[in-house]
Amino acid sequence: MNDIKAGLIGFGNIGAGVVKLLRDNSTVIRDKVGTGITLSRIADLDITSDRGVAVDPAILTTRADDIFNDPEIDIVIELIGGYEPARTFVLKAIAAGKHVVTANKALLALHGAEIYAAAAAKGVEVQYEAAVGGGIPVLSAIKGNLAANRFGSVFGIMNGTCNYILTRMTQEGADFGDVLKSAQELGYAEPDPTFDIEGTDTTHKLAVLASLCFGTSIDFNAIYTEGITGISGIDIRFAEQFGYRIKLLAIGKRTDDGQLEVRVHPTMIPLHNPLADVGGAFNAIRLTGDFVGPVMFYGRGAGQNPTASAIVGDLIEISRSIVAGGGSRRAAPLGFLDSAITTLP
Ligand code: HSE
Repeated sequence: MNDIKAGLIGFGNIGAGVVKLLRDNSTVIRDKVGTGITLSRIADLDITSDRGVAVDPAILTTRADDIFNDPEIDIVIELIGGYEPARTFVLKAIAAGKHVVTANKALLALHGAEIYAAAAAKGVEVQYEAAVGGGIPVLSAIKGNLAANRFGSVFGIMNGTCNYILTRMTQEGADFGDVLKSAQELGYAEPDPTFDIEGTDTTHKLAVLASLCFGTSIDFNAIYTEGITGISGIDIRFAEQFGYRIKLLAIGKRTDDGQLEVRVHPTMIPLHNPLADVGGAFNAIRLTGDFVGPVMFYGRGAGQNPTASAIVGDLIEISRSIVAGGGSRRAAPLGFLDSAITTLP
């Protein structure tokens, strides 16, 4: 079988990681898929800057349409982030019959229902593991081996930038602004870092994750959101003196009356709780399923390599189903539809 061809829209830090991973692990990938995966087109408005990875200039284009109109491309990877033009591009890719891999939590939090419906109508897949938890395969687990469970709660640390800032403020007494700058340099932060520090990015992720866990569409705007900009060194030191560590938590749980409580805010974590020890840009997500009980996921939640790992994992998943000539076992965007629940902030 010929290589499966993918097109990438958005050649930034994460896109460069995808190029690198596809190149460095091409043999591993070929062995696992049964054929190779080639990035045959890359679209970005800037096709001249050096991203630190070598690409054939002939595959670079400034027009995303070159990807949608290429009949040889089966899979479109959307990495431009944000709401628009990402939404338009993803819908165009689906309309052209392409499968989609995206890391765009903002897009899915606001327009997920529209995108999943368009994909289902067209019979293509949309995979988005990198949208939540960076390299941690939490969404695959919920859609896969945990799918038999009814989930009671999901909560955890879901923003690497905030966790990195809080960790360095705690351990070194570092200055908020200085650490934010270094989180940007390390490639953890969003292009607009206010999305990180104001909690918006965590809320996007909670909307995606909780929708999947609870099988219902959660209104992003209904989620109470408070970031870490109000946290000072004094807050952190007092919390430690009382036996707590401050973490930005995303929380989703079923209430006794069958509603959902969803919120994002800084939280005092007892020092003996495992979440207190999650440091740097790591994320940790804890789920409770009615049969499996509590399950905890931990790993790198931000950065070029872990995010590329999740994106290429999705590419492999779709490629395997193309090779097998059928649908993916992870195709369904929602675990089950539970119309009895409504959302509480
Ligand atoms: N800015 C995000 C974070 C990137 O810091 O977690 C990963 O989604």
